[in-house]
Amino acid sequence: MKTMYWKDNKLFLIDQTLLPDEIIYHECKTYKDVINAIKTMKVRGAPAIGVAAAFGVVLADISGEDLLKAGAEIKDARPTAVNLAWAVDRVLNSKSPLDEALRMYDEDVKTNMAIGRNGSEIIDDGDTILTHCNAGALACVDYGTALGVLRAAHDEGKNIKVICDETRPLCQGARLSVFEMQQENIPVKLAVDSAAGHLMQKGMVNKVVVGADRVAKGGVANKIGSLMVALAAKRFNIPFYVAAPKSTFDSENSIYDVEIEERDADEVIYFGNSRVAPEGTEIENPAFDIIPSDLITGIITEDGIIKPF
Ligand code: MRU
Repeated sequence: MKTMYWKDNKLFLIDQTLLPDEIIYHECKTYKDVINAIKTMKVRGAPAIGVAAAFGVVLADISGEDLLKAGAEIKDARPTAVNLAWAVDRVLNSKSPLDEALRMYDEDVKTNMAIGRNGSEIIDDGDTILTHCNAGALACVDYGTALGVLRAAHDEGKNIKVICDETRPLCQGARLSVFEMQQENIPVKLAVDSAAGHLMQKGMVNKVVVGADRVAKGGVANKIGSLMVALAAKRFNIPFYVAAPKSTFDSENSIYDVEIEERDADEVIYFGNSRVAPEGTEIENPAFDIIPSDLITGIITEDGIIKPF
């Protein structure tokens, strides 16, 4: 099952806000539909929004829009993952936007399978691996990065267990990562985000593998809560790996200069449909945080495992 597909000059995306209860493909007919799907997180995860953005440029091309203007608007949809700008620029610089977007679609899956093969080398038989957010098939076209590593290890016959952090406020760990692991029959448990340190202290975690929204000078930006997981892992000498394709690399900028997306207060005030804080509560809702390089054991890429820069 692919996270998205292109048919009849339209982009169809699994509406991830409805998972795990319903699998419904959302139709995008215009580039503005794609922007809206990215902003509302019907499609999310750095590689997935990159490929969706590429098809957004194709939709703008089909309807004869000003491509530079459409591309700039698409890049602005979410600020932290570098894949958006990477994908838009790649399609804008190509001879045929649709061919290029389809090439990126196919490449994504091959890249993730290579990340999986490289990453499974660091997974031992019997490991329990903690992951945060969803860096799975749903965050890409298919297969996933961090969860791709776990898929590959499982497919090689390694006996692994997975712990998914819930990932408040939008619960990508609970809704998406647990769902993916269950579909693969990989033994999985769900824990609230604040349990990670305790589980590590009790010796229940052998390794951490997470994804990335941007790898830049000095560290990695990933889903809010990743920094606390990395700090706890360092304290308990647990290897902390990031799995990321080269399309997530930004070798120009310091990670500390990257804009961290702030999202709507209601994501925190409400849990599902229930309000959990008094009306009018002021909120901090950063969507990502920064893991400094010294907390990262290695970055698993399609070309091998490298040290952070
Ligand atoms: O806000 P999201 O759900 O788009 O955040 C996703 C993450 O932080 C992922 O870990 C990251 O994009 C890597 S996905 C392969």
